[in-house]
Amino acid sequence: MHVDPLALDWRPHPRVTWDVLLGPRDLRRALEEDVRHGLTHKPRELPPKYFYDARGSRLFDAITRLPEYYPTRREREILSTRAPEIAARTGADTLLELGSGTSDKTRLLLEALSAGGTLRRFVPFDVDAVTLRSSTLRIASEYPRLAVHAVVGDFERHVPLLPQGGRRLIAFLGGTVGNLAPTPRARFLADIAAQLGPVDAFLLGTDLVKDIPRLEAAYNDSQGVTAEFNRNVLSVLNTELDADFQLEQFEHVARYDARQGWIEMLLRSTEQQTVTVADLDLRVQFTAGELLRTEISAKFTPPQIDREIEAAGMRTEARWTDRAGDFAVTLAVSA
Ligand code: SAH
Ligand code: TRP
Repeated sequence: MHVDPLALDWRPHPRVTWDVLLGPRDLRRALEEDVRHGLTHKPRELPPKYFYDARGSRLFDAITRLPEYYPTRREREILSTRAPEIAARTGADTLLELGSGTSDKTRLLLEALSAGGTLRRFVPFDVDAVTLRSSTLRIASEYPRLAVHAVVGDFERHVPLLPQGGRRLIAFLGGTVGNLAPTPRARFLADIAAQLGPVDAFLLGTDLVKDIPRLEAAYNDSQGVTAEFNRNVLSVLNTELDADFQLEQFEHVARYDARQGWIEMLLRSTEQQTVTVADLDLRVQFTAGELLRTEISAKFTPPQIDREIEAAGMRTEARWTDRAGDFAVTLAVSA
C-alpha cells in the first residue's frame, strides 16, 4: 500500500478499469496519524493494514500455504463444494471482493458464476495497490469475457463507495473480518448492510473457535514465516517514516485470549530500547519485555456470526462449514 497507486500503470488491459479511493496523500496522512496514535498510547498498538506492502502481501501468501495455517485450505474446501450452490442462490452478475489480495480462492466463485451464465463483472478491492494490480491483470487475461473494475481502497472507510448496479455478491473471505475489533466490525457490517439492495448478497468467511493449540499453531508456524510477516510492519515504518526499529530486537508472540475469543499478535521488545520515528519527530521508549500489539484475529461460533449479521440489519440465508468444522462461510442478505 506504500506505493503511490497513481504511479502504477493500469492500462495494459482493455477490459480493466480502476478507481483509486486512497490517494498518496490520504495514505500518508492515515499512516502518520495511526502510527503516532498507536505508538504513544499504552498498550502500544499498530493497525494491521500496514502489514501489507508488497513484501507483506508475499509473506501472507506464503502463510496461506503453511501446514499449520488451516483457514485458507478449509475455506477453499468449502468454496470448491459450495460455489455452484452460491452461484445458483445469488444469480450474481457482479462479484465484489473486499481485501481480495491474490484472489486465489475467488476463482472458484468466478468459475461457478460463469458456468451459471450470470457473471459479467469482477470488482477486486484492496489497500495494497501492487498486489491488486497484478492479480487483477491475471484474472482479466484468464477470463476473456469479464469486465474487471479494480478499486484501491480501505474497507473500513470506502464500502459506501462500492460500484453500484446489477445483482451483486459482495465477498469478504479469509476470515479477515476477524481482524477488526468488535466496534469497527459492527460499523463495517452496518456499512455492508446499507449497501445491500434486494437482489444483492454478502458472503462472509470466518474462522471458528477451536482448541487453543491448533489456533495458536496457525499463528506460530515452525518455519517462522508468520514471525517475519509480523515484524514486516516494523520495516514498513522504517521505510515509510524513516524509523529505526531493529527488527531482531522484537520477538513474535501470538496467543489466544479465550475471554475475548481472539488471537492476539504482538511484538515483544527483547530489551530496553528507544526507537526514533524521524518523520514524526517521535522517540518511543520500550521497556524490556514490553508488548506492541499488531493484530487481532477473532474466532467465531455460528450463533455469534448470526447475531452480528442481524445486529447490522442483515439475515443469514445459508451457512456451510468444512468437514472438520474449522471454518464457516455464511451467505447473508438484507433483512
Ligand atoms: N482474501 C485473501 C487475502 C486475505 S489477507 C484470502 O482470503 O486469502 C487480507 C487482505 O486484506 C490483504 O490483501 C490486505 O491487503 C487487505 N486489507 C487489509 N486491510 C485492509 C483495509 N483496511 N482495506 C482494504 N484492504 C485491506
Ligand atoms: N486474516 C488473516 C487471519 O487473521 C491474517 C493473518 C494470518 C495474519 N496470519 C497472520 C495477520 C499473522 C497477522 C499476522 O487469519
